[in-house]
Amino acid sequence: MPNSIVLGTGRSVPARSVPNREFEAVMDTTDEWIRTRTGIESRHWISPGETGVELGRRAAVAALEMAGIGATDLDAIVYATITPDHFLPGNGVFVQRALGANSIPAIDIRQQCSGFVYALAIADGFIKAGVYRRVLVVGQEVQSTRMDVSTRGRHTAVLFADGAGAVVLGPCDDPQRGILGYDLHTDGRLAEKLWVDEPGAIRIPTIDQGRYQEGRYFLEMDGKEVYRHATQRMPESVQTCLGKLNLTPADISLLIPHQANLRISEAVQKGLGLSDAQVYNNIQRYGNTTAATIPIALDECVRASRIEPGDLVVLTAFGSGFAWGTVALRW
Ligand code: COA
Repeated sequence: MPNSIVLGTGRSVPARSVPNREFEAVMDTTDEWIRTRTGIESRHWISPGETGVELGRRAAVAALEMAGIGATDLDAIVYATITPDHFLPGNGVFVQRALGANSIPAIDIRQQCSGFVYALAIADGFIKAGVYRRVLVVGQEVQSTRMDVSTRGRHTAVLFADGAGAVVLGPCDDPQRGILGYDLHTDGRLAEKLWVDEPGAIRIPTIDQGRYQEGRYFLEMDGKEVYRHATQRMPESVQTCLGKLNLTPADISLLIPHQANLRISEAVQKGLGLSDAQVYNNIQRYGNTTAATIPIALDECVRASRIEPGDLVVLTAFGSGFAWGTVALRW
């Protein structure tokens, strides 16, 4: 069975950067509150006319270029997003079309903030089984248009942002390299702690102005519960994933935690006893781009030569569902 290795990475964010100060004009908040509670300084939000599919396409093109292959060399796409441009079909087929790929499967998954970790595991399964050789994995979100940019929504609007990251995976016969293992979980008992209730298909009528005004179409979050579970589940999952591989946190060259809140990443680092040099954070500049945080950070690290051949790279995520998980790769 071949292992899956990363052949290329890419990222794309909208041109518009939104510093914390912009929120001060439209809601009761301050730059200082946002920085101290979350670590975020600015984030990228789309402007009218920009699309999530275009962000995904650009990230994919960059990853394909680094991999040295063309879109027609791809065998499958696994596309993680909870904010598709349209209700259906998912963004995967639009990116397949925009890339000019063959009529390969484009599989859209959700899994919220853990979307990219789950997508990697799915792509790895295809490659290990010998079903597909070259798989494009994309994490992409446009969260900004779904935010309540008012004092009512200030606990979420300042956190979430837009962007895309992508990797191209391919097979490798060296069992010491590539994706070594993963650990995935959900706990649906806590689904309503971080969710968007409506518009859902069970609502009659599906769209209702009154319920929109009540805020039912915006993200609802119990921030404290999310924080508590995120800081426990991510370290636990990293330990489980590494334990199955007879590795320990001391073996980690670089941990990229999902970028939800800098304080959460710091707690995960502490929980695992890692040094600053072992953990990468970029939430200061990007905010929480949900399924895109990990591939954006991974691409930054690869292009800055922060990852060298032989490094043990660990990716861990936690989010709505609750869903969480970890992937360990030997570069
Ligand atoms: N600006 C100013 N005040 C704000 C604010 C903002 N942007 N957002 C919330 N507040 C206020 C609250 O209304 C509350 O006011 P009150 O005491 O008058 O009711 C006060 O700040 C404290 O709110 P609280 O929710 O207790 O703050 P907190 O210390 O828990 O921090 C989060 C809030 C959102 C930063 C924190 O809970 C968190 O990061 N949780 C995890 C969220 C997350 O990562 N979600 C995505 C997971 S994938």
